[in-house]
Amino acid sequence: MIERVISVPAQPFHDQRPGTSGLRKRTAIFSQPHYLELYLQAVIDALGNLRGKTVVIGGDGRYHNRPAIETAIRMLSAAEVSRVLVGRDGLMSTPALSLMVRAKNAYAGLLFTASHNPGGPQGDFGVKLNLGNGAPAPERVTEAIFQHSRRLTGYRTLDRVAIDLAKPGAQLCFETLVEVVDPVTDYARAMEKLFDFAALEKLIGSRDFRFRFDAMNAVTGPYAREIFENRLRAPVGSVVNAVPLEDFGGLHPDPGPSYAKDLFAAMAEDTGPDFGAASDGDGDRHVVLGRDLAVAPSDSIAILAANHQAAPGYAKRVNGVARSMPTSRALDAVAKHLGVPCYETPTGWKYFTSLLDSGRIVLCGEESAGAGSDHAREKDGLWAVLYWLNILAVRRMSVGALVRTHWRAFGRHAFQRLDYVGLEEDGARAMMQDLRARLRDIEGRRVHGLLIDTADEYSYVDPVDGTTADRQGIRIVTADHARIVYRLSGTGTSGETLRIYVERLVREGDMLDASAGRLVAGLPGAAALLADIPRYTGRSAPDVVS
Ligand code: G1P
Ligand code: ZN
Repeated sequence: MIERVISVPAQPFHDQRPGTSGLRKRTAIFSQPHYLELYLQAVIDALGNLRGKTVVIGGDGRYHNRPAIETAIRMLSAAEVSRVLVGRDGLMSTPALSLMVRAKNAYAGLLFTASHNPGGPQGDFGVKLNLGNGAPAPERVTEAIFQHSRRLTGYRTLDRVAIDLAKPGAQLCFETLVEVVDPVTDYARAMEKLFDFAALEKLIGSRDFRFRFDAMNAVTGPYAREIFENRLRAPVGSVVNAVPLEDFGGLHPDPGPSYAKDLFAAMAEDTGPDFGAASDGDGDRHVVLGRDLAVAPSDSIAILAANHQAAPGYAKRVNGVARSMPTSRALDAVAKHLGVPCYETPTGWKYFTSLLDSGRIVLCGEESAGAGSDHAREKDGLWAVLYWLNILAVRRMSVGALVRTHWRAFGRHAFQRLDYVGLEEDGARAMMQDLRARLRDIEGRRVHGLLIDTADEYSYVDPVDGTTADRQGIRIVTADHARIVYRLSGTGTSGETLRIYVERLVREGDMLDASAGRLVAGLPGAAALLADIPRYTGRSAPDVVS
């Protein structure tokens, strides 16, 4: 037994089951004595023998990031990991970590992030595990972590070893070589291989194109400055809120209209940007805005796929695409046109992984502001923004013109997501259970103004490895192909969040430009009645509509 490795006895916690995206909890829960350590021990045990292996560590920089990373390094060292690569100051975006795990042939990656959730002592914290392919750990591994977590009697760590995350270069943490790295250059280089940087520089550097990227005081600031301002010569100051802060400067790092308010407001000004974009806390989500519209995420992935010829890294090689089930079917229409398969997967990036690994797809995306490709195994916010810019540079169109051209060609899959947040668990689950029990009865019937064609519960069989995932959302499709999807969120930190996704295809010229809310009118109300939401939850309206 190695000297300085100590075993700390502790009682297991019973709530350490990872959700859609790792273990996400209130910071106050994570900072209880032994909570993080026990979870990390469960991760280490689930990974098996780590002796001699390399692990990459990153984080979005939120409150508790640094102490958590230092804890992880000590525990990995106690598990005899030979090399740890960690972002300077503990910072590394989620997609940059995925790239680094792959590039360095690491065995695993650990990410400390709660994505777009607010940070701070009152906010949220989270831990994600990625495997050697750079992808979020699949269900079989997360389930093993949970099983280990329930049986722990303590954890192993190092006694008193200091780690300096601010000092670039290598240091020894007992017998583990800890390299503090700056992932920005590697990431920027990877982007240069995929996109036409000369064309991008011409567009962004031109005086007629006003460009703004809002990093929301979160992890992408240094990446965005390097790429947009240094390499592509956007005027200095084009990247705003560019310094990652522990409390995100009081912002909620979610790039939607409710929280990226400054950016949305700037776009509406007369002298506002022609192109605006933002990403979330850990840099995997994106929003793209034109002067008069924000691109809906389900449309974003469809438009990226439809215009793949514009981006050098994708021209002539998109052989398949995928979307999560609740994401609108805009991508399916593009896939049909391209003559390539469009796979449908459960919510969560991990389900795209086997399709990407096996070469079945090149592009994929989710309605929750995530898009990505086979360059990484995570969604990638800056990648999506660069891809958009590359298309605009080639097609010489504004964001608004490109979106409207797309709608005219493929129809518009008007889409809305309605979230009922912080529901009491029993009520929310009973509601889903009751709806599930009635699916057969409502099929073929007219209910609350909807003529229901099919009503079922979505389950998935991975076409590559045959693994299955049941109960991934309840789907109602009407005779005129409108769709309602119900599912409970897997990333919440208190109570249940019910998500309802509604979608309707519109083709008529005049209507195309109406608000999404107008185009899906009737569906949210019918969805609420159909599932008896007021009775089960006591709520008469959703908390967030996006
Ligand atoms: C949410 C999104 C999902 C995304 C995940 C992680 O999960 O809906 O698309 O992959 O966050 O960013 P949910 O809370 O719905 O389980
Ligand atoms: Zn995120």
